[in-house]
Amino acid sequence: MASLKTNNKRDAKDVQEFRGQILSWYDKHARILPWRAEKGQKADPYHVWLSEIMLQQTTVGAVIPYFTKFLNKWPRIQDLAAAERDEIMSEWAGLGYYARARNLHKCAQVVTEELSGVFPQDEAALKALPGIGEYTSAAIAAIAFDRPATVVDGNIERIMARYFAVKDAVPGAKKILKSHAHYLSDGRKDRPGDYAQALMDIGASICTPRSPKCGLCPINQKCKAHKQGIEEELPAREKKLAKPQKFGFVYWVQDKQGRVLLHRRSEKGMLGGMIGLPTSKWVERKKKRGVEHPDYLDGVAFETKAASIHHSFTHFDLELALKRAISVSVLETQDNYFWCDKSELKTIGFPSLFSKAIRLGG
Ligand code: ADE
Repeated sequence: MASLKTNNKRDAKDVQEFRGQILSWYDKHARILPWRAEKGQKADPYHVWLSEIMLQQTTVGAVIPYFTKFLNKWPRIQDLAAAERDEIMSEWAGLGYYARARNLHKCAQVVTEELSGVFPQDEAALKALPGIGEYTSAAIAAIAFDRPATVVDGNIERIMARYFAVKDAVPGAKKILKSHAHYLSDGRKDRPGDYAQALMDIGASICTPRSPKCGLCPINQKCKAHKQGIEEELPAREKKLAKPQKFGFVYWVQDKQGRVLLHRRSEKGMLGGMIGLPTSKWVERKKKRGVEHPDYLDGVAFETKAASIHHSFTHFDLELALKRAISVSVLETQDNYFWCDKSELKTIGFPSLFSKAIRLGG
């Protein structure tokens, strides 16, 4: 990728100084995180990969317990490859973005079966694996293998926007922010993994979206936004459109023995491959009067009690109105629908949407 600036000697000195300040800060203040190597040790590529997949769109605090649980259960990539898909999905429940879990399993199988359990080291080969995109391939190359790579996550974008006082709004400005990051990383062999993680830590603890602690920042002297007093205004954001509002029904159906009807969702679509309560189609709120109950619930007499749950996905908000029915017979043979003893519900990992519905229904 083209740098914004020419690589003259002055630039090289600026880059050296910037990286030096970042790395010295990291030596004193790096967060201790379970996937990180101890000083002087090499990181385990399996741990780095697993953490980076989990950290996509998810905070460090939310990821730590999942990361620990996965490693206890599947200590090696071969163990994860051999696991049942349902078990992985169940353990992933609550982390969201479930395509990540499906791809996690596929990637573990490819690395185990086709690459003898060894991750490739270069970005292009990493990017060819399931679930590994531009950001993750760069992060794994840098953190697991100390390869020069331009790693750009939301934290690093924010630091670039402020350090170089980029006033164009994101997401449109992403390209320009990446090119600044590239200018500081291109071909740099001085601790690429520590450098990337140092920026992530600075973004998480100092160069925060609101009230950044510029007094503690190792690169505050040449930060253009800080000099201009506009750090809180950057990165500028394009106006967000209001999220679409969707509506549907969620069904709590029990049989005479008290068992609850569950549904394994299709691989494609929202919450793909996850187990949940049955639902109707989800439609735009303004079409809510037209929502029909699925055919297999024909003849079921639902209680009229009005209760609903709300859940916010990245691209829309959803309201599911709860429909309860007790002691009905539902087609036993319907694909992907099955009865579960009420006492067994706690052994299944449900997406948060369904945990809320189960709390309300049960
Ligand atoms: N966010 C994404 N990857 C990370 C890492 N390795 N350390 C801290 N935060 C992160």
